[in-house]
Amino acid sequence: MRGWSPGSSDPGFRGQMESAPATHARRSLFAAVIIVTALAAATGCGSRSSAKYLVGFSQCNLGEPWRVAMNVDVAERARDFPDLEIVFADAQQDNAKQVADVENFLRQRIDLLMISPNEAKPLTPVVERAFRSGIPVIVIDRGLEGDAFTTFIGADNYEIGRRAGEHITGILQGKGLIVEILGLPGSPPAVDRSRGMHDAIAAYPELQIIHSPVANWLREEAMAQMEMALAAHPRIDLVYAHNDPMAIGAYLAAKAKGREREMTFIGIDALPGLDGGRQAVADGKLDATFVYPTGGREAVELAARILAGAQVPHRVVLKTEKITRANAAAGR
Ligand code: FRU
Repeated sequence: MRGWSPGSSDPGFRGQMESAPATHARRSLFAAVIIVTALAAATGCGSRSSAKYLVGFSQCNLGEPWRVAMNVDVAERARDFPDLEIVFADAQQDNAKQVADVENFLRQRIDLLMISPNEAKPLTPVVERAFRSGIPVIVIDRGLEGDAFTTFIGADNYEIGRRAGEHITGILQGKGLIVEILGLPGSPPAVDRSRGMHDAIAAYPELQIIHSPVANWLREEAMAQMEMALAAHPRIDLVYAHNDPMAIGAYLAAKAKGREREMTFIGIDALPGLDGGRQAVADGKLDATFVYPTGGREAVELAARILAGAQVPHRVVLKTEKITRANAAAGR
């Protein structure tokens, strides 16, 4: 144990957990894991009290189901490594809060930092400071600027975008009007998913992107943006959204106007569960999505290896998979 007490875990976390019923089950599971961990720490019993290493995990937000899934993956896998005690912080999509969360971890003298950054530029300096002071750093899913971290783990977002683009050229047979709904622009996956798709459709001049609103990864923002797109464009053939919540938001906006059958919807994440992208594909709301693994379990494994003194690769690329109606039911 390294002087951490349950009271020092992030108070914002529980507040957020109660606000979104859609992901209630996963959040409850995560809450249960955290409460058990906290109780073990408070009472001095349980494997955590003998943990050798303190790991700080800075999550950029817990407002999205995919993020909650990542925290569940981290908490579950960490149970297999009694030498590791993991403390969680939720930055609530706020760069300044995430910087403060990391600074707080540094004051708690963490042995290793895991971080999934909200945006690259504002988070780079504090992570660099941690790394240069000798703390190993694992960056998960969203990259940073430069190279000052031990390892990055995540899927290849350019490749996912490219495969989405190839799928689009197939569906539209090289001709059609596309709305692209963008994730948070300062987060590298949004840039890479866009670039990959644009490169894949570049050879088809009759595929036109007619509207590219930013919806910051959020379903509600995508709904509002799609309402505007629908009002502005009497014809839309396809919506490519950088994640499933935004694709589903766009679908719901089109459905509210009775126009959802005019167009095809494509997303990314393929989260299992009733509210996830896989189910949306199985239900015919989305035409396709691409698996974007959280990397939570693998990050814990990497942390254990690094703390045991092993060398790890500087970049670990996780696999993706295209999900269509043909394979959506498997793995739900
Ligand atoms: C969750 C999320 C996912 C997306 C990822 C990109 O915050 O928006 O839906 O795939 O972040 O970093």
